[in-house]
Amino acid sequence: MIAERYERFARTEAAGQSPLYEKLASHVARSAVCLRFLEQLPPDRQQPNLLFGAVRLVTDIPASPEALDEALLAHGDAIAAVMLSRTTQTNEPARCAALLPALAQIKGPIALIEVGASAGLCLLPEHYGYDWGRQRLTPPQAALEDTPVFDCPASETTPLPTHYPDIVWRAGLDLNPLDVTNGEDMAWLETLVWPEHHQRLQRLRAAMRIARKHPPRLVKGDLTRDLTALMAQAPQDATLVVFHTAVLSYIPHQPLRDDFATHMLASGAVWLSNESPRVFPQFATGLTAPENGKFLLCRNGKPLAWTGPHGQSIDWIAPD
Ligand SMILES: C[S@@+](CC[C@H](N)C(=O)[O-])C[C@H]1O[C@@H](n2cnc3c(N)ncnc32)[C@H](O)[C@@H]1O
Repeated sequence: MIAERYERFARTEAAGQSPLYEKLASHVARSAVCLRFLEQLPPDRQQPNLLFGAVRLVTDIPASPEALDEALLAHGDAIAAVMLSRTTQTNEPARCAALLPALAQIKGPIALIEVGASAGLCLLPEHYGYDWGRQRLTPPQAALEDTPVFDCPASETTPLPTHYPDIVWRAGLDLNPLDVTNGEDMAWLETLVWPEHHQRLQRLRAAMRIARKHPPRLVKGDLTRDLTALMAQAPQDATLVVFHTAVLSYIPHQPLRDDFATHMLASGAVWLSNESPRVFPQFATGLTAPENGKFLLCRNGKPLAWTGPHGQSIDWIAPD
């Protein structure tokens, strides 16, 4: 089971994205040292990203399969402790590039809630720059703030924003909000960026600097229980938008995801969901994902676009 999971990760997630993680994950599937180490952990703490992030935090990026075995033999207790205390909370601000075309279509002013916000970096879309190929957008304060610019090639019919949305209130909800002023939290976020993704890491650091200047409000809570109370705090004279990206897959049971969808559709808020099409298969009916791994961006359950899972592309499919 663990071996299969790592083989699958190597084949479907790491291949073409991280040659090192592909090699390490294939090794884990065959290594008695790695499998014995993982078997002592609860099933929800055995994920490849969690293992590799924890090894990196305690030692360094293992440069080879042998180095991974050695790290587990020498530092197994410390690595296990990280895997038991941390979760995969990858915060990818570049996902704002794929969200902004949908956000900019909504009449403002906007009150914005992000569900599963991690450190809240996706709650600051008007502080980043974007290059969609045929159009760029950069904030006026770009030169002063060392603003990251996210490349996100957009298909021809994608409605590209010419200005930033007017966000007058914002808040994030997370089981474990990460604090941009806490060095350990930020070091953990950095280890979750895959080793070859140097540009992503640079842009993550730039977004962290911006978030330290404009810290979004983050609330600790569970999206299945605590969202209604947070929504009730939004100002009445703004359009409430609730969005999430790479979050609902953490809710393991489909009925709970479906309850969330029902609640969102009945809520009166505009609901933007940017998730794997497997999360809400009812909204992906009849669609074929252009490539393995793409996310489906939906507004109120209606498909708008296929997006790169790290916000690295957007292909509009909605008729309007
Ligand atoms: C992969 S991260 C994505 C973070 C951010 N949305 C982004 O796209 O960069 C998933 C986040 O969802 C949070 N999360 C998972 N289950 C949750 C739940 N039931 N309620 C609230 N947050 C949850 C995790 O703690 C984590 O910070």
